[in-house]
Amino acid sequence: MSQPPLVVLAGGSGFVGRHLTPALVNAGYRVRILTRDPARLRDLRVLPTLETAAHPGIYEPPRLGPAVRGASVVVNLVGILNQGFRRESRFSWVHGVLTDRLLQAAREGAVPRFIHLSALRAELPHPLSLYLRSKAEAEDRVRNSGLDWILVRPSVIYGPDDDFLKRFARLLQWAPGILPVACPETPLAPVDIADVVRALRMLIDGATVPVRTLDLESSPTLTLKDAVEAIARTLHLPRLVVGLPDGASWLLGALLQGMPRPPFTLDNYRSLRALSRAPATPKADGFGMLGITPKPFRERIPAYLGPRGA
Ligand SMILES: NC(=O)c1ccc[n+]([C@@H]2O[C@H](COP(=O)([O-])OP(=O)(O)OC[C@H]3O[C@@H](n4cnc5c(N)ncnc54)[C@H](OP(=O)(O)O)[C@@H]3O)[C@@H](O)[C@H]2O)c1
Repeated sequence: MSQPPLVVLAGGSGFVGRHLTPALVNAGYRVRILTRDPARLRDLRVLPTLETAAHPGIYEPPRLGPAVRGASVVVNLVGILNQGFRRESRFSWVHGVLTDRLLQAAREGAVPRFIHLSALRAELPHPLSLYLRSKAEAEDRVRNSGLDWILVRPSVIYGPDDDFLKRFARLLQWAPGILPVACPETPLAPVDIADVVRALRMLIDGATVPVRTLDLESSPTLTLKDAVEAIARTLHLPRLVVGLPDGASWLLGALLQGMPRPPFTLDNYRSLRALSRAPATPKADGFGMLGITPKPFRERIPAYLGPRGA
C-alpha cells in the first residue's frame, strides 16, 4: 500500500506550524517538522503521522537533504521578526542562507511544490526595514529557484498562543490606566490563524490560483490603535490607548532595542511605517482566490481572549 503524501514543514515548531500540523495530519498527510530543538515538539508527538527531523544542525546541507527527501510539498515557515548579533540569528542568515539551502534541498529532492511564508509589503522597493528587505530578497530567491513555488504574505496572524494578542493583552494588564502605542495609525488587516491554516492546506492540497504570490488580509482594515482598543474592550480593561507621534515612536524603538528581548525596535518601527505606504502592486487577494471569507478581527478575538483564550 502506498504511503500518504509527505509535507515537510521547516520551522514547523512555531506558531503557524503548531496549528497547521494537526490540520494536515487530520487530512491524512504525513508531516515532517524540521526543528533545531526536539523539545519544542513534545506536545505534538501524540499526532500519529508526525515525524520530526530534529538537530541543532538540521539546516546543514548533509542533514537537510535527507530531511526533505520524499516530500510532496515543502513549506518554509522559518522566520524571525528581530535579529540578534550571532551570524545564525541575523536576517541574512535566517531569511537568506536558510531559504537558499531549503530551495537547494528541494531541487535536489525533486520536490513538486515549495510554499514560502513571506510578509505583507515585502514587495516595496527598497524598504528601510531590514526585516522587510530580507523577506523581499528571500522572495526573489524563491521566484528564481526553478521550483513550482507559491509565496504567501499574511498580515499579522492572531490566534491562541500568538504573539500579537498575547503581547497587547499583557501590556494592557500592566498599564496603569494609559497605554502609549507606537505607530498608532498603521493600517492592519489581522488574519485568524484558522483562516491561514485553511488557505495553506488548500495550497498544499494543490489548489490552483491565478497568481503565485498571495496576500492574506482580513477586512475591514483597522489601525493598530483600533486593534489595541478592541483587545482592551474584549478584556474589559478600561484603558486609555494613546497614540505616540512619529518622533516618539522612533525614540521608543531606539530606546527599547537595546533590551535582551526587545518588545519594539527601530526596525519594527520601519516595518510598521512601510505598512502605512500604499501597496506598490495591486492587491493579490489570496483568501478571495481560494474562496475563503476571512473572519473580521473584532468578531473573532473574544474566542481567543476569553476565559479559555490568551
Ligand atoms: N505570525 C505572524 O503574525 C506572521 C505574519 C506574517 C508573516 N509571518 C511569517 O510566517 C512564518 C511563520 O511564522 P510563525 O509566527 O510561525 O513564526 P515563529 O513562531 O517565530 O516560528 C518560526 C520558526 O522559525 C525557526 N527559526 C527561528 N530562528 C531560526 C534560526 N536562527 N535558524 C533556524 N530556524 C529558526 C524556529 O524553529 P526551531 O527553533 O524549532 O528550529 C521557529 O519555530 C515566518 O516566516 C514569519 O515571518 C508570520
